[in-house]
Amino acid sequence: MPLNENRQRFDPHAEKPAVPSFAKLPRHLAIIMDGNGRWAAQRRRPRVFGHRRGMERAKDIVRACGDLLLESLTLYAFSLDNWNRPKSEVNTLMRLLVKFLKSELEEMMESNIRFRVLGRREMLPEFVMDAVREDEVTTAANTGLNLNLAVSYGGRAEIVDAVNAVRREMAAGIIEERPITEELIAKRLYTAGQPEVDLLVRTSGELRVSDFLLWQIAYAEIYVTEAYWPDFSREELYRALEAYAGRERRFGRLGKQMREPNG
Ligand code: IPE
Ligand code: IPE
Ligand code: MG
Repeated sequence: MPLNENRQRFDPHAEKPAVPSFAKLPRHLAIIMDGNGRWAAQRRRPRVFGHRRGMERAKDIVRACGDLLLESLTLYAFSLDNWNRPKSEVNTLMRLLVKFLKSELEEMMESNIRFRVLGRREMLPEFVMDAVREDEVTTAANTGLNLNLAVSYGGRAEIVDAVNAVRREMAAGIIEERPITEELIAKRLYTAGQPEVDLLVRTSGELRVSDFLLWQIAYAEIYVTEAYWPDFSREELYRALEAYAGRERRFGRLGKQMREPNG
């Protein structure tokens, strides 16, 4: 029996909308939520209009991923390079982020979601950090979906931060001096303890990863849709999951080896 069917049977949220069943589901889904500006431009509206609609979409998709009983969902909301956008847009995005954090807290508690921000949080303004801390602390003991919001996030910066953490621990004698290994780094990434990314989705048709989860996507399946993020509905999500269910992952081996692991 596919894992998700097994898990759905024990879904305690009987009143939740029915979700389709997939032959397999990603444990960790990561989404580059792109195209808010173009969506707004198509409607001759300011970019902020697209960001607002994008935030509503993010709420829907979080709910859907909770209903599907995924383990981790990582949403790319604001990159380190996005700090270079015009100040007014950056300010708008920070205000929308706080709005999201405040309006979602109750729902996250009801849905048993554990929330974390991934990124260089020291660069965030204090009013944003206050809201981040409140959501992280309040949801820390929840055991359902891990919701990671990548904010002030860069994939190369994350790896650099992890390597520096290893150096610090060695210098302080917390861990013994030894050559760097993948495990030493992986355990100090912002996503430590969570599964690697199985499926990476990008909206708005761009064929690039834009410095997102560079380490964790090593063997991720990639799915790109032309839909702009504000149009990324539950149905779009299900299409991405359906595509994922049909992929054969090989991790460098032969297909035959994957199908007959003991052969
Ligand atoms: C994604 O939409 C949201 C952020 C990067 C903050 P964009 O703002 O990048 O929208 P486009 O790509 O210009 O359409
Ligand atoms: C990536 O989108 C960052 C987020 C979605 C938050 P961008 O719009 O910043 O990426 P580029 O500039 O098109 O690569
Ligand atoms: Mg963009």
